[in-house]
Amino acid sequence: MASSLILVLVSSLAFFSTISEAQTYPPIVDGLSFNFYECICPHAEFIIRNFLSTAFKSNISLAAGLLRIHFHDCFVQGCDGSVLLDGTASDPSEKDQLPNLTLQPAAFKAINDIKALLDQACGQVVSCADIAALAARDSVYLSGGPNYKVPLGRRDSLTFASRNATLAGLPAPTSNVTTLLEVFNKINLDTTDLVTLSGGHTIGRAHCSSFNNRLFPSQDPTMNKSFAKNLYLTCPTNTTVNTTVNDIRSPNAFDNKYYVDLMNREGLFTSDQDMYTDSRTKPTVTSFAINQSLFFENFVYSIVKMGQVSVLTGDQGEIRANCSAPNPTTKFLWSVVDGEEREKLAY
Ligand code: HEM
Ligand SMILES: *[C@@H]1O[C@H](CO)[C@@H](O)[C@H](O)[C@H]1NC(C)=O
Ligand SMILES: *[C@@H]1O[C@H](CO)[C@@H](O)[C@H](O)[C@H]1NC(C)=O
Ligand SMILES: *[C@@H]1O[C@H](CO)[C@@H](O)[C@H](O)[C@H]1NC(C)=O
Ligand SMILES: *[C@@H]1O[C@H](CO)[C@@H](O)[C@H](O)[C@H]1NC(C)=O
Ligand SMILES: *[C@@H]1O[C@H](CO)[C@@H](O)[C@H](O)[C@H]1NC(C)=O
Ligand SMILES: *[C@@H]1O[C@H](CO)[C@@H](O)[C@H](O)[C@H]1NC(C)=O
Ligand SMILES: *[C@@H]1O[C@H](CO)[C@@H](O)[C@H](O)[C@H]1NC(C)=O
Ligand SMILES: *[C@@H]1O[C@H](CO)[C@@H](O)[C@H](O)[C@H]1NC(C)=O
Ligand SMILES: *[C@@H]1O[C@H](CO)[C@@H](O)[C@H](O)[C@H]1NC(C)=O
Repeated sequence: MASSLILVLVSSLAFFSTISEAQTYPPIVDGLSFNFYECICPHAEFIIRNFLSTAFKSNISLAAGLLRIHFHDCFVQGCDGSVLLDGTASDPSEKDQLPNLTLQPAAFKAINDIKALLDQACGQVVSCADIAALAARDSVYLSGGPNYKVPLGRRDSLTFASRNATLAGLPAPTSNVTTLLEVFNKINLDTTDLVTLSGGHTIGRAHCSSFNNRLFPSQDPTMNKSFAKNLYLTCPTNTTVNTTVNDIRSPNAFDNKYYVDLMNREGLFTSDQDMYTDSRTKPTVTSFAINQSLFFENFVYSIVKMGQVSVLTGDQGEIRANCSAPNPTTKFLWSVVDGEEREKLAY
């Protein structure tokens, strides 16, 4: 007992000692706090980090999948775990939409596995939306990026977004900076947030279909010629289904090389490369390419800001038992004989 207490103390020191004191955070919204689970699930963050550090050792691709899930969750209907819900054939959910951007099934599974561990340790108190935010943080940190504190206390949605809301909330990779800013500004994210958060593309992969517009019918003039030559090998036709890495310099490391790629015209999507073409964003791209600490500081600020977009708090929403489904509530027990029916009414 005493030795396990010491272990917890020692690991908690190690855990927080890597978090820079100098870091600036955006304002924390009412209802969220850094110590939300301190009493009701004190080891929640260690349980998540331990799980992921083991999981990433067997497949680091999972880190990119988890980071992207948090982004999608926040951009569509707020960071409320809605992206995690499974849809039904007649009622397709956020992850069934075209720009579900091929979210990784393995990442959804990891979130459900973590949820089961937390519920076993503490009861049904940690929300799926908070798990997604913490898993994104650990994906960044365990891939070499900054460590940071996550404001907690998000509640899970009872519903998921419509097809139209999903399409409207997520920018296409073919977007230019003007369009990207429209989408970001709608949720109060600014030009610096756009450049900073796009740095998430320092890890992970993309399908040819996401950047085909730059290769066919002809090569995008803003693309580096030798880079393009290699992309044509991976994506010989408009319909090839291969994938390639987002950041050719260090595909699995969370660092500032993505911005170095952009300066060499080796960004993958129009949405990436246009930030080095557009005069509103180019200076920030350059400053991050030459100063990784500056990128990391901004990243922490912007992802904590993104992580608080339209959150549910207090007695809003619920704490799900299963991140893939809303809780069956007593209100709908009358239709329990028909699971399909109950599920639809609960939405
Ligand atoms: C600025 C607007 C953004 C656009 C247009 C965009 C678009 C995309 C697209 C099209 C893919 C590849 C999907 C595929 O072909 O499989 C992708 C992958 C990815 N995105 Fe973004 N994204 C944006 C912002 C972000 C943000 C803010 C983050 C996180 C901070 C992020 C993190 C990722 C990650 C980690 C991957 C790789 C996923 C994997 O390997 O499974 N993206 N993004
Ligand atoms: C690692 O995970 C990615 C994404 O989930 C998957 O596509 C890939 O096949 C996995 N690799 C291995 C070696 O299991
Ligand atoms: C994403 O959407 C596609 C097309 O609707 C679907 O086939 C795929 O299963 C979805 N992916 C996930 C992880 O739900
Ligand atoms: C969704 O968008 C399409 C095309 O913009 C529109 O025709 C349709 O009415 C919208 N559906 C809903 C439910 O808003
Ligand atoms: C950006 O994209 C929008 C939508 O496709 C287009 O209307 C606009 O002209 C583009 N702006 C620039 C500066 O290329
Ligand atoms: C790529 O092919 C699709 C059909 O598969 C077509 O709709 C699209 O216009 C083509 N894109 C280019 C740039 O040729
Ligand atoms: C990509 O897919 C094509 C078939 O569509 C295949 O011939 C080619 O070898 C693949 N390239 C890579 C790099 O995987
Ligand atoms: C194209 O990429 C190569 C390799 O990174 C780089 O040396 C070269 O300067 C780039 N060209 C341009 C125009 O940025
Ligand atoms: C890089 O950015 C950090 C963080 O803002 C700053 O403290 C440092 O002075 C910058 N380094 C250089 C060489 O400008
Ligand atoms: C969680 O919910 C999903 C969607 O309804 C379901 O497919 C899955 O079996 C559930 N998992 C558990 C452990 O009950």
